[in-house]
Amino acid sequence: MSEAAAWQELHFTARKSDVEPLEDWLFEHGALSVTLEDEADQPLLEPGPGETPLWDLVRVTALFEGALDLKPLLAAVPGDWILDRPTAAVPLADREWTREWESQFHPMQMGARLWICPSWTPPPDPDAINILLDPGLAFGTGTHPTTAMCLRALDAGVGSGMRVVDYGCGSGILGIAGARLGAASVLGVDNDPQAILASHANAAANGVTPAQFSAVLPDAALIATWAGSADWVVANILAGPLVALKPVLTGLLMPGGRLTLAGLLEKQAREVIEAYAPEVVLAVVDQREEWVLLSGHAA
Ligand SMILES: C[S@@+](CC[C@H](N)C(=O)[O-])C[C@H]1O[C@@H](n2cnc3c(N)ncnc32)[C@H](O)[C@@H]1O
Repeated sequence: MSEAAAWQELHFTARKSDVEPLEDWLFEHGALSVTLEDEADQPLLEPGPGETPLWDLVRVTALFEGALDLKPLLAAVPGDWILDRPTAAVPLADREWTREWESQFHPMQMGARLWICPSWTPPPDPDAINILLDPGLAFGTGTHPTTAMCLRALDAGVGSGMRVVDYGCGSGILGIAGARLGAASVLGVDNDPQAILASHANAAANGVTPAQFSAVLPDAALIATWAGSADWVVANILAGPLVALKPVLTGLLMPGGRLTLAGLLEKQAREVIEAYAPEVVLAVVDQREEWVLLSGHAA
């Protein structure tokens, strides 16, 4: 008799409304993990804090130990929750999952001085400014084109002693880069409490002190103390929030201060540029795929 596979998976298609009870049921019946994927290539826009949006049709994959007999379980999955019932489990060979996941993230050079490195690989250039950052719950590992464009702009422009704001800080990657590139003081802002936690943890892991970089929610009293005093405000969010945040972002800038905006598509650039004129005359200064980077100075 052949040896049992190390792991096995069951795949189902479910409607959005049935995913939660199905997921709970699978965990109660021995699933080690349940993964949700889009069954119909339906894009989801950036969720609000605490929201976990789902596609209308979801592909649900449940992972089980290989030695379990899943036939009775397969027959018992409540039919109301699934649109298809697989006839058998899919066996999976044992693999070094952690290593496979890690192999997707590599050190990335972001301009002349800066590298973003996962913590599990030695920095290729030990003399560079190396930011150690692992993928986590908050957005911002450097792999997204919008983050990469902001990092390259910071690398080229942050001078020592500057006051920098990272609005929509996510993992804190831009603010931490600003601090490591020489900024004296960096303010991170995010409306997701998870991002505030991640930013502080990542800052500490990179030797950036709370005196150099502090991340807060948008209603924090600290923000008012920064009014009219930032040399540079960087915000990588989305076109809609960037337009809505105009009074907040321009209010943080000192006269002549620089504003850099990312998270918008080429076709949205005109709308954002018009929203900020005449206080800040923005122009496209970089482009990656369909994403553009806007930058300009306050009057
Ligand atoms: C695309 S991520 C950017 C993260 C990181 N700065 C980077 O460049 O990779 C956008 C971040 O902005 C935050 N955000 C979205 N709308 C916001 C708002 N109105 N105020 C503050 N933060 C916001 C999100 O929670 C998210 O962490």
